[in-house]
Amino acid sequence: TPGIRPLIAGNWKMNGLSADIGELEAMAEAAFGGADALICVPATLMTRAHVALEGKLQLGGQDCHTAAAGAHTGDVSAEMLADAGATHVLVGHSERRTDHGETDGIVADKAEAAWRAGLTAVICIGETKAEREGGKTLSVLSRQIPGSVPKEAKAKNTVIAYEPVWAIGTGLTPTVEDVAEAHAHIRKELETLLGEEAGKMRILYGGSVKPGNATELLSIEHVDGALVGGASLKAVDFLAIAAAC
Ligand code: G3P
Repeated sequence: TPGIRPLIAGNWKMNGLSADIGELEAMAEAAFGGADALICVPATLMTRAHVALEGKLQLGGQDCHTAAAGAHTGDVSAEMLADAGATHVLVGHSERRTDHGETDGIVADKAEAAWRAGLTAVICIGETKAEREGGKTLSVLSRQIPGSVPKEAKAKNTVIAYEPVWAIGTGLTPTVEDVAEAHAHIRKELETLLGEEAGKMRILYGGSVKPGNATELLSIEHVDGALVGGASLKAVDFLAIAAAC
């Protein structure tokens, strides 16, 4: 989108041990000319990743609790992520929605928690395979956007990530036409919700983004970057995707 600098974001999911820090160091050695870069690591690696990335890439968490602190065993707050060096946090990833029953309302609350801690919320949306096959993709997005994106969202503190659930980790991607239709629809729904702020907000595509398809996906109108899972684990793949910008 004209005027929007692309963002290439990686999501390590529940992957990554100390032995993998070298991948982050390799990413930090590269130059990201045409895009901003972000890596969302497991909470256990946050502090080491902050050191390894040397501020060359931004650092994100993968989820946060709605509360700042308290009796929530096993959870991590947005304030804790910020304290460990994060600038971003994913909220509402489809794996969180499925594995932990997160609803649109919870996702919106988590976005507000992210802002409270000074983080940018990367709000994830997308239809399931059954919804796609039932022709419901656009209506699902029309429900998820006002449900998951608080009305106070600004382009500087919010990124939208469109991830068709059936494209995640499967090697399948929607056609160029389908991605274009979904992203144009998301922009329109954001305009209804947020007014002119919507025109500046990044809308990322996620789901089986690889070095081999990145150029095509990133050239689609209203695709302002990518959210990359499997191909973000190795610096060589992630850097090849970033180079497609
Ligand atoms: O959040 C990124 C993710 O869900 C996409 O995963 O492995 O299909 O790139 P992958």
